[in-house]
Parts: sequence; C-alpha cells; structure tokens
Amino acid sequence: MAATILITGSTGLIGFRILLAALAAGHNVRYTVRSEDKAKVVSSNPAVQRLAPGERLSPVIIPDFTVEGAFDSALQGVTHIIHAGSPVPLPNYEPTTEIFQPTIKISSGLLSSALKTPSVKRLIITSSIVANLGAVPPPTAVSAKTRVPLPDPVPATFDNVFDAYVLGKIVELHNSDEFVKTHSPHFTVSHVVPGYVFGHNELALDATMMQTQNSSNNFLMVGMVGGELPFPIHGGFAHIDDVADAHLRVAFLDPQSDGPKDFGIATKVDYGTIFDHVAKAFPKAVAEGVFKRGTVPTLPVEYDSSDVEKLLGEKLRTFESAVVDVAAQYLETLGKEKA
Ligand SMILES: NC(=O)c1ccc[n+]([C@@H]2O[C@H](COP(=O)([O-])OP(=O)(O)OC[C@H]3O[C@@H](n4cnc5c(N)ncnc54)[C@H](OP(=O)(O)O)[C@@H]3O)[C@@H](O)[C@H]2O)c1
Repeated sequence: MAATILITGSTGLIGFRILLAALAAGHNVRYTVRSEDKAKVVSSNPAVQRLAPGERLSPVIIPDFTVEGAFDSALQGVTHIIHAGSPVPLPNYEPTTEIFQPTIKISSGLLSSALKTPSVKRLIITSSIVANLGAVPPPTAVSAKTRVPLPDPVPATFDNVFDAYVLGKIVELHNSDEFVKTHSPHFTVSHVVPGYVFGHNELALDATMMQTQNSSNNFLMVGMVGGELPFPIHGGFAHIDDVADAHLRVAFLDPQSDGPKDFGIATKVDYGTIFDHVAKAFPKAVAEGVFKRGTVPTLPVEYDSSDVEKLLGEKLRTFESAVVDVAAQYLETLGKEKA
C-alpha cells in the first residue's frame, strides 16, 4: 500500500524540501497549514507544479496547531507523520507564546492524535542540535542520543527568543521520550536533529525573499552580500538535501531495527569561508559587486553525525556545495549569468 505522509511545516525551508522529496518518491502527501493562503503558497509553487502531483497532494487547514485534538481528523488514513512545522527563533516572535509553547504543544498534540490513529506507523519530529548541546555548547562531542537535563523548575516564561527556542527543543525531546515510555505507542517516534540548515530553497521566489524569507539561509546570504551578523551562530551545518533524505530514510526504516532512533546531522564549519566558496564559483559576479565578503561569526560546536552517515550510506554533502547552490539561486533570482 502506498504511504500517506502527513507533513507539517511545508511553508518552511525544511518541510517544503521534504514535501518535494516525498512527492518525487511517489508518496501521497497531506500537508497541514494555518490558512488557505498558506496552502496556496505550497500548491502554486513552481517546483510543486513541475511534479504535477494531482490527487497525491492535499492540504488540511488547521488554524491553530496547538489546540487539543487539532490533528485528529487530519491523521485519518495517514501512515507516516513528519513534523517540521515549529517556530524558529525570529527576533519579532514573542518568546513564550510564539516559540516555547508551540514547540512543545504541537509535538505533544501530534503524539496524542497519533495514539488514536491505528494507521500511523511512524512519527518523525525535526529537532535541532541545540536540544543536545544546551544553551552553551560543551567542549566534547554530543550526538542525537545526548539528553540535556531539564532545569528545575522549567521556566514558564522567557524574555529572549533563543532561550525559549533552546529550552523548547530540550523539553520537546524529554516529553517525546517520556510519551514513548508511558504509552508504548503502536508507532515509532524518531527525531532528525540538524545543525544550521543551508541550501537551495524553492520557496524563495525572488531576490528579496532570498535575503529575508529564507529561514537559516538568511544568515548565509549575510555572509555573501557584505552584511554583518551581530551575533555568532553555531558552526554545525546540515545540507538541506541531506536533511530531507534523512527524514524520508528514517520514515521507512525497518521498525523492528534495534539501531538508533534519533539521527543528528551537523558538520563542523567556519562561516568565515562563505565568501571564499562564492568567489571561487562565481568570480564574475564578485567582480561586478553582486557578492561581497560579509561577516558571520561562528560559535564552534562538536557534534557526532556518524549515525546519519550510516543511515544515508554516504558522506554528508559539503558546506561548499550548499553555499554555491544558494549563491547560484540568488543569481537566478537576479536574472544574472551564473559565472
Ligand atoms: N533552518 C534551520 O537551520 C534549522 C536547524 C535545526 C532545526 N530546525 C528546525 O526545523 C523545523 C523547521 O525549520 P525551518 O527552517 O523549515 O523553519 P521555517 O522556514 O521558519 O518554517 C517554519 C515552519 O513551521 C511552521 N510554524 C512555525 N510556527 C508555527 C506554529 N506556531 N503553528 C504552526 N506552524 C508553525 C511555519 O508555518 P507558517 O508558514 O504558518 O508560519 C513553517 O511552515 C523547526 O522545528 C526548526 O526548529 C531548523
């Protein structure tokens, strides 16, 4: 029987790339969005249209993902769930209500709805390496297996988006582990745990969106158009294509396998190299002043991604290839030659 995959977050960098990969692999995809307009962002996207999914792709509108039972009817007949629809720490978000609470509530709501749905075989949740690293990265390597102890008590409110994001991801991981222990669900629960994700984003349709509505790629753009990021970001990188592949591989792993259940992807990088990669690939655009050296400070992290390399059966894609892909897409949106 064909898989029916429910994907959250398909109006975002990661969820949309997973949606494209799932359609390309021939699966049926149901995607949850908060409004009709958001559904159209997905269905009208040229990359989706090129795949001509017809009835294999359908939206479900759920105005508030955090309401109890929000996913109950959307999950009918679903075999796999990929949950990539969770907030990232944008500076304009209210830390407690728009980051910490939805990070925890959407995931626990999905787990509870899945428990009532016999057709569900697997639930995969997109986490972040900050869930294993904590607020301050330790000097020794961590992996997707690492659990950061919860503070006692867990704060109820936050005034900083990054603190709310990190603790949200830590609590989400603990809650999911606890859910599995308590309920022994009929489906498996896994996390895919990326570092900063970079690469081609088909949702960025013009040069402005490339720099402002491009999730983590916004940071990469800063480094290639002469900007200056005022704070450091974790130097653990994941290529968007590896992230999408990993979600789908985990979704179709043998459920009896006694191998790892969570898979982290983060290769150590120095963001000081962004412009060097661009200059090597596109010297003409550099000479024309389209690309300029920017500053993106790196916070070094040690992370063990060996499980995901085994899962994918190949070396992880390089940072250079992600940088070049994003730079090439930027040139395309500007209508400039890629030389
Ligand atoms: N990008 C990275 O570098 C990175 C690294 C590690 C982990 N992650 C994780 O990967 C996931 C997706 O990240 P992304 O880069 O794809 O982010 P993104 O481009 O900002 O997309 C976020 C997605 O989540 C949805 N979403 C956010 N808050 C929501 C809420 N309260 N209720 C319902 N839907 C909500 C958004 O829907 P709307 O369009 O309706 O807002 C959008 O589809 C997140 O869990 C993030 O923490 C990302």
